[in-house]
Amino acid sequence: MTADPIRWAWAAAAVVLWLALIGLVALRRARKTGDTPPTAPDATLVVFASQTGFAEELARMTTAALNAGGITTALISLGDLTADRLAAAPRALFLVSTTGEGDAPDSALAFMRRMSQRDLSGLSFGVLALGDSSYRSFCAFGRALDDWLRTNAARPLFDRVEVDNGEVGAIRHWQHQLNRITGRTDAPDWAPPAYAPWRLIKRERLNGPDSPGEGLWRIALEPLGDLPDWRAGDIAEIGVPSAPGQSPHAHREYSVASLPADRRLELIVRLMRGPDGAPGLASGWLTETCAIGAPVDLRIRSNSAFHGPEGAPPMILIGAGSGLAGLRAHIKERQAARCGANWLILGERHPAHDRILTPELETGRALGTLERLDRVFSRGAGGRYVQDHLRDQADLVRDWIARGAVIHVCGAVAMGAAVHAALAEILGAESLDDLTARGRYRRDVY
Ligand SMILES: Cc1cc2nc3c(=O)[nH]c(=O)nc-3n(C[C@H](O)[C@H](O)[C@H](O)COP(=O)(O)O)c2cc1C
Repeated sequence: MTADPIRWAWAAAAVVLWLALIGLVALRRARKTGDTPPTAPDATLVVFASQTGFAEELARMTTAALNAGGITTALISLGDLTADRLAAAPRALFLVSTTGEGDAPDSALAFMRRMSQRDLSGLSFGVLALGDSSYRSFCAFGRALDDWLRTNAARPLFDRVEVDNGEVGAIRHWQHQLNRITGRTDAPDWAPPAYAPWRLIKRERLNGPDSPGEGLWRIALEPLGDLPDWRAGDIAEIGVPSAPGQSPHAHREYSVASLPADRRLELIVRLMRGPDGAPGLASGWLTETCAIGAPVDLRIRSNSAFHGPEGAPPMILIGAGSGLAGLRAHIKERQAARCGANWLILGERHPAHDRILTPELETGRALGTLERLDRVFSRGAGGRYVQDHLRDQADLVRDWIARGAVIHVCGAVAMGAAVHAALAEILGAESLDDLTARGRYRRDVY
C-alpha cells in the first residue's frame, strides 16, 4: 500500500492546527491567571511604575530602543514583578515616578510589600526616576528603589537619572545610557510628544452663570485625520499656544471624558484664575479664547493605572468637579459593555447652580446603567463633601466591596486625599492597601 500524499498533507495540516490551538489555549490561560508568558531568561527587564502614564510610555520607548539594538526585553509593571523573577534576571531597567507626597505609584504597592532582604548580586540595573522638584520629596520613590537595589547587592550600570517635570535633557541622558547598552551610536533622539492636529468643535458651559465656582466647560474636539483609539482612563495632552516670547507650546494634561465610539474627544475643564484674577493660560484658552473650528494640537496618552477592571465587577466612581471627566468615560465604557452595577458619587458646589450633566446622568439612572447616583453639594444648606457622604454610606461601601467592587477616584489632589482618608477609615488601612495592590482601587488625581 502506498501513502496518499494528499492525505499526508491533510494529516500534517491537522497536527499544525492542533499545536497552534494548544499554544493559543496556553497563552489565554496564562493571561487569565495573570501569569506573564515565559520570556527568554536572558531578557532585560524593563519595569515601570506609573501613576499617570508617563513612566509607562517611556518604558515602552525604552523597550523599543533596546529591541532596535538587538536586545531582548520583557516589559512589566512593577506591581507584577516578583522578587524571584528579579533575582533571576541578569539586567533590569526601572522607570518609576513619584506621586502624592513622596509616595510610590499605587501599582507599585504590591512590590513595596515584597521589598525585603534579597540577594540581587546577579543583577545589574538602571533607574530612571520621574518627579517634579516643586514637590518637597523630589523623586522620593525612584531614590528609595535605587537604595533598595544597591543595599541588596545589585550593581548599578550608571548613576540614577532624575527627570524634573519631563525635562528633555535628562531623558536624553537616559537614551544615551541605552545606546551604551546596545552599542548603537546612530539611534535617533526621542522627539518631544508629537501632537496631532485636532480642532475645537464645541464648547458648552455645564454649571450655571451664578455658580460659586468658576465656569466648568465641556470641550469637544475632533481629529483632522483618522480618529485614534483610546480607553476610559486615558489622558489628553494638549499643546497650548503660549504668550509671546515664551516657548512655542505649554503642555497641559486633561482626563478624557468620552470614548472613540462618540466620534469625538471631550474634556471637562474648569476655568482657573491666577492670584490677579487673570484666566489661566490653558484653561482660559480652552474655555474662552480658542475659536470654534480653530486647530488644537493634541495627543492621547495611554494611562493603564486608571483603566477599567477586567470582567464586570461592580464599580464605585468617586469624584468632584472636573473629575467627572475621567469617571464619565468609565461610565460610558461600562454602559457599552452592559455592566450596570455602577455607583457614582459626585461632588459639586451649589445645588441650584451646579447640577452638571443632569439629563445624561438621570438617563443612566433610569436605564439602570447607573445603579446609584449620589450628588453631594458643598454649599447651601447642610453642605457636604464626597468624603462626608462616603462616611455616611460606610455600610453600603463595605457591602459593595464585599461584592467585589472596584473603586475609581478622579479629581483634585485635596479631594483625592480626603477620599483616601475616608476609605481607609471605612475599610481599614490594610484592606485599602490590599485593594490598591490588586488594582481594585485606582486614582487619577491632579
Ligand atoms: C498628584 C501628584 C503628586 C506628585 N507628587 C510628587 C512628589 O511628591 N515628588 C515628585 O518628585 N514628583 C511628584 N509628582 C510629579 C510626578 O512624579 C511627575 O509628574 C511624573 O512625571 C509623573 O509620572 P507618571 O505619569 O509615570 O506617574 C506628583 C504629580 C502629581 C500629579
